[in-house]
Amino acid sequence: MLDLMRHATHDENRQGESFAPFAEDPNEYGKKFYIESYGCQMNFADSEIVASILNESGFGATRNYEEADLVLLNTCSIREKAEQTVRKRLTEFRKMKKQRPGVLVGVLGCMAERLKSKFLEEEQLVDLVVGPDAYRSLPGLIVEAEEGQKGVNVLLSREETYADISPVRLESNGVSAFVSIMRGCNNMCSFCVVPFTRGRERSRDAESIIKECEALFNSGYREVTLLGQNVDSYYWDPLQAVQSQNNNANPAQDAVTFAKLLERVARISPLLRVRFSTSHPKDITDEVLLTMSRHENICKYIHLPVQSGSNRILQLMNRTYTREWYLAKVNRIKELMPDCGISSDIIAGFCTETDEDHLDTLNLMESCGYDMSYMFFYSERPGTLAQRRYKDDIPESVKKKRLDEIVKLQNRLSLKSNQSDLGKTFKVLIEGDSKKSDGDWMGRSTQNKVVVFSKNGSNHKKGDYVHVKVTSCTGATLLGEMI
Ligand code: 5AD
Ligand code: SF4
Repeated sequence: MLDLMRHATHDENRQGESFAPFAEDPNEYGKKFYIESYGCQMNFADSEIVASILNESGFGATRNYEEADLVLLNTCSIREKAEQTVRKRLTEFRKMKKQRPGVLVGVLGCMAERLKSKFLEEEQLVDLVVGPDAYRSLPGLIVEAEEGQKGVNVLLSREETYADISPVRLESNGVSAFVSIMRGCNNMCSFCVVPFTRGRERSRDAESIIKECEALFNSGYREVTLLGQNVDSYYWDPLQAVQSQNNNANPAQDAVTFAKLLERVARISPLLRVRFSTSHPKDITDEVLLTMSRHENICKYIHLPVQSGSNRILQLMNRTYTREWYLAKVNRIKELMPDCGISSDIIAGFCTETDEDHLDTLNLMESCGYDMSYMFFYSERPGTLAQRRYKDDIPESVKKKRLDEIVKLQNRLSLKSNQSDLGKTFKVLIEGDSKKSDGDWMGRSTQNKVVVFSKNGSNHKKGDYVHVKVTSCTGATLLGEMI
């Protein structure tokens, strides 16, 4: 699969996957809803907020869309292919609706925001179109739709963070959870549709984040991933919050930067691992790196998307850093945390990209020695700066050839990185049974590498930490033995 669907974070086990949540007993609710999520972890986290809002208004979740009264798709617009996947799924729901005309079908997320009411003209079966900042209005819109009107709310907000809503954990392994800390993006990378679909950047109340993480820890979770399009620009000012009548805010407290937030979450317990995603290379500060290096339980892993290794392309992309600046940042990370894992996002075939630019990308990947990358070919998105300013002039065959070279190089780098772990021992948080065998555990190292090892008759359980010595590997997985 070349064109991976993801955004904001990257959990390889969930990439591009859709899922259907379930309530412990959906029958205790009057009605049932079914939800599938596409794209980034932010969307998966949003679906958990939607589930909470729907539970409050009498809808229990089901895994089976054929028994649902309400079917929702939480959609992604990042690349054209992501949108095509959703359209295909809607065709299947159209068949269902012919048999059960009473069922409501709703489109949420980025595609809803991008296409707005055009969706209702294009896809006649859709009853609800709700953008990422309008989920609180879902119950009202459902009532309208039940009365036969189409329900649309795609208003973007400068304030909405859903801070007070406790997400209903869906399809959770009970060990790791995502916690949204900010929404939106102000960056305006020229290829990216996110600033248009998710609106302006805003940070969630720090106290509500800490409370959510503490509650997760107290109910057995052992890892939280702090999520945002650009986590390093997290900033919460209690004084400002008091002015906007936020009851959690204490004006005597200092403003909370991302580094301070990380530190506070890390202090909840040494047994709680903390991860975060995504960082913009221009915004990740020394303060964040130093905080990471001070706390053993802040995972030594940074997803630092570079997008291209060519200065000319980086400028066209409006990434606001150069190749040299990026390499210096990677060096600084390695200097402070020599064992830190680093991964990237890379786009092949952006407008005007030459063979030389492409070689710059390959060469930068080699210099950074990425442990892992998410790799895409450029997909022009309507309304973005690149679509308005530049011609999408690289033929598809060239884009694919370049992407193929990037993927091959990354496979080689990932294998090399895993091979360098042979014989080393890692502290691993057990997430559950290995996919291939329930005689094996699957967990992760602090560097976010998947580690598989035999249970060996021991009485460990999910959420336990164990030490595993690596005995062999593939490009994707470390295999080892518990010691
Ligand atoms: N075409 C291809 N890839 C894109 N991304 C964002 N927009 C596009 C696009 N128009 C990639 C970037 C980003 C990741 C989440 O998706 O690499 O970091
Ligand atoms: Fe898109 Fe750039 Fe913002 Fe990431 S930082 S969401 S790539 S505009």
